[in-house]
Amino acid sequence: MAQTAPFSSDTLMDLLRTIRTPQTGLSLASAGRLESCTVDDTGRLTLTLTVPREQAPELSGLCDEAAQKLQTLPNVTSATLILTAHRPAGAPEPNTGPQRSTPAAAQPAAGGHRPLGGPAAPDAPVLPGVKTIIAVASGKGGVGKSTTAVNLAVGLGMEGLKTGLLDADIHGPSLHRMLGTTGKPEVVEGRLQPVQAWGIRAVSLGMLVDEKAAMIWRGPMVMGAINQLLTDVDWGDLDVMVVDLPPGTGDAHLSLTQKVPLSGAVIVSTPQDIALIDARRGVTMFEKLKVPVLGLVENMSYFCCPNCGHNTELFGHGGARHEAEAMGVPFLGEVPLLADIRSSADSGVPLVIGAPQSEGGKAWRAIAHTVATAIQTLQA
Ligand SMILES: Nc1ncnc2c1ncn2[C@@H]1O[C@H](COP(=O)(O)OP(=O)(O)OP(=O)(O)O)[C@@H](O)[C@H]1O
Ligand SMILES: [Mg+2]
Repeated sequence: MAQTAPFSSDTLMDLLRTIRTPQTGLSLASAGRLESCTVDDTGRLTLTLTVPREQAPELSGLCDEAAQKLQTLPNVTSATLILTAHRPAGAPEPNTGPQRSTPAAAQPAAGGHRPLGGPAAPDAPVLPGVKTIIAVASGKGGVGKSTTAVNLAVGLGMEGLKTGLLDADIHGPSLHRMLGTTGKPEVVEGRLQPVQAWGIRAVSLGMLVDEKAAMIWRGPMVMGAINQLLTDVDWGDLDVMVVDLPPGTGDAHLSLTQKVPLSGAVIVSTPQDIALIDARRGVTMFEKLKVPVLGLVENMSYFCCPNCGHNTELFGHGGARHEAEAMGVPFLGEVPLLADIRSSADSGVPLVIGAPQSEGGKAWRAIAHTVATAIQTLQA
């Protein structure tokens, strides 16, 4: 469980004053506003600072140094710094902890998320406080959808968008592990509260039930479970909800598109031909459902040797970019195959947080930035 930090704010600020950018000498203490500082039972410290959007790129280079220095604080065994960017004036506020919303049925339609060309919602609006809903999908399994969904969602949070992450992979929920959450969502006034992790709100079935039990769920139960994750969870007001879908084009996809008007889809593929064929199916499915495809991500694009720096194109390279051009959908970027991407998923610290300056971290952040821009266009 997270607890208040066992040291004074003066101690913390003194330390943050010593962490400065080489470019302009800007310190974390002067540039950042303290949002939260917690230490869990194992001594893991999570510090969240809000920084001006224009200074975020310069300050993000300080994360590694900050993590090392923060580890020297009393009772701290490991530390992570989260920087979230200020929104420009007039734009929505950044994440500010759990908020309550009245039940969906009691809310008017106005102010909810927009279908943006998607199918009309059949019932009353399900997520009235959510402006944009984006699905992360692929035709083929194991290409990195969940890894993309986590890093995209946390990256969007770092861009200053109030972000939620829903794990709609009922058969194989994995986001709770990738986010490193151990607690169960609390129930307040009969509604589940999303877990707060890395600046975003998240709910995965893996937080609620035994993973083995989840795997035996069948068609109608899948639909019921997804409905519940949408309607029985107090998602509150969000700029964007990222939904991690299971592989293929099955029950989860249909129930989601029937239940909520998706604003867009991000398709993940490796550069391999077989994966690209499946990616094409994914694009076609969303086009049939009249959900705009925001773009294609090429994951495991090439292997970058950590010893000699040589890039090897294990699955070919550039296939997704070529395919995106052929299908007339945007290409969002390529992410290399890297051991630290796998280990960050296993350790529960998304790469955009744990190593924002690594090759993978920079790739995800650039993709999140592009998607954030696309979202602003959608919401305009
Ligand atoms: N770029 C990468 N470099 C190294 N490992 C990666 C990369 N992307 C994903 N992985 C690893 O590959 C495995 C599969 O990734 P992930 O679970 O994100 O795929 P998925 O498409 O969601 O799978 P599923 O179809 O089962 O839901 C995980 O162990 C993940 O850590
Ligand atoms: Mg997955």
